[in-house]
Amino acid sequence: MAKLHVVTYGCQMNAHDSDRMVELMAPLGFEATKNKDEADLIVLNTCSVREKADQKMLSELGRLREWRAEHPTRILAVGGCVAQGMGQGLLDKVPFLDLVFGTDQLAALPDMVRRIQQDNVRVAAVDWRDADEFDFLPIRPRSKVEGCHAFVKIMKGCNQFCTYCIVPYVKGRELCRPADEIVDEVAMLVERYGVREVTLLGQTVTSYNVRHNARPGAPRFSELLYRLHEIQGLHRIRFMTGYPKDVEPDLVAAFRDLPRVAGHIHMPVQSGSDPILKRMNRGYTRALYTERMADLRAARPGLALTSDVIVGFPGETEADFEATMDLVRTMRFDSIFSFSYSERPGTRATRFHDSVPHEDRRRRLRTLNEMQEEITREILQSRVGNREEVLVLGPSTRDPNILCGRTSEHRMVNFRGVANVGDLKHVDITEARPHSLRGQMISDAQRLSA
Ligand code: SAH
Ligand code: SF4
Ligand code: F3S
Repeated sequence: MAKLHVVTYGCQMNAHDSDRMVELMAPLGFEATKNKDEADLIVLNTCSVREKADQKMLSELGRLREWRAEHPTRILAVGGCVAQGMGQGLLDKVPFLDLVFGTDQLAALPDMVRRIQQDNVRVAAVDWRDADEFDFLPIRPRSKVEGCHAFVKIMKGCNQFCTYCIVPYVKGRELCRPADEIVDEVAMLVERYGVREVTLLGQTVTSYNVRHNARPGAPRFSELLYRLHEIQGLHRIRFMTGYPKDVEPDLVAAFRDLPRVAGHIHMPVQSGSDPILKRMNRGYTRALYTERMADLRAARPGLALTSDVIVGFPGETEADFEATMDLVRTMRFDSIFSFSYSERPGTRATRFHDSVPHEDRRRRLRTLNEMQEEITREILQSRVGNREEVLVLGPSTRDPNILCGRTSEHRMVNFRGVANVGDLKHVDITEARPHSLRGQMISDAQRLSA
């Protein structure tokens, strides 16, 4: 068997694509390995969302020069978002690189590898596929599903063009997968692999079939949730990422009606200042964001919210930053991913010349994170003494005698008890850690007799 090693950078969508690469290469006799020294083919599946991600990939490439030189038949490939952005330029820049393939070229990976093996050529392939081609993700049996959770891609690309963001340029236009196919795949995952929880993936999943190129009568995101909710044996439905302005009454109703839609929503706000939101081209105001989140929280008591925030966007004054601090303080997110603004060549924001000094960006990031850590701690602390329903994910990575699971609100719980992966169990929360909870499992008999 030949061996394939994939290194993944970036978001869950990339992680999902990496799994598909492994599946696609299996018919060519490639088996995945975690050890790059025994690999015959290494693929770096790259991210370019922030400058740091770019640099990480380039230094990893540097380290692989020797690996590539050791055997003439070894193949070194770069896929994903950096590959899409740089194309032939990356092949020219890195002489020991064999293959650069773009984000729409995944399915052609086996053919390209075969060509390189046979003809000893170097290949750069970054063309986009036909815009109305909906069969980009045919259902195929997975090579494996670890645990009881699976990611399911429902969209690709993005049409939003936030002015700071490279994603629309490197992942292409938004394309929605047909609902029937998504429902079939989830049902198959539940039946064949014992999956109990799925996360629907896309850059703006809540705009599923509502923006461009939607076919008439195609179901909206909320309808998809209702359909998935009927699948027997599926305990929880999650999704990533939602877009604030898509939170309309139909989605709010889904949160009210569908108990197996998890009690957590990740809804990036990016900034608490209206002029900055406008400049970012986010398409909503602070008031709209807070109203829509209040609607969701009213529909689902206890709903946990998480978010993404950027500090130091061009033109962000101290007052704008204070507005973000104030929003984060009042929203009480469970947690946030916070970022210091990073210029991305080719995006519209690079044309704004009032950039914020790096020192201020760093300071704002620190200030924001300190406040959020306190909020996260308070929220976790408030769970102590509660009984939570936990989906068992498996033994804890640190201690095999401890089980690890998540609440519907996506809070991590480590607990003592005996249970199978995929079980829903009740756990009494005894302690809050900085980013997780600890507790004691209650047996079903104990619970019913109480
Ligand atoms: N589609 C998702 C986000 C995808 S990128 C959404 O719209 O919410 C993940 C996060 O990276 C973004 O939410 C944003 O906070 C951050 N990000 C994207 N581009 C960035 C940049 N140029 N600088 C800093 N952070 C950025
Ligand atoms: Fe980027 Fe905005 Fe699209 Fe998210 S919605 S991927 S931030 S352009
Ligand atoms: Fe990065 Fe591409 Fe995802 S730029 S965040 S890997 S879509």
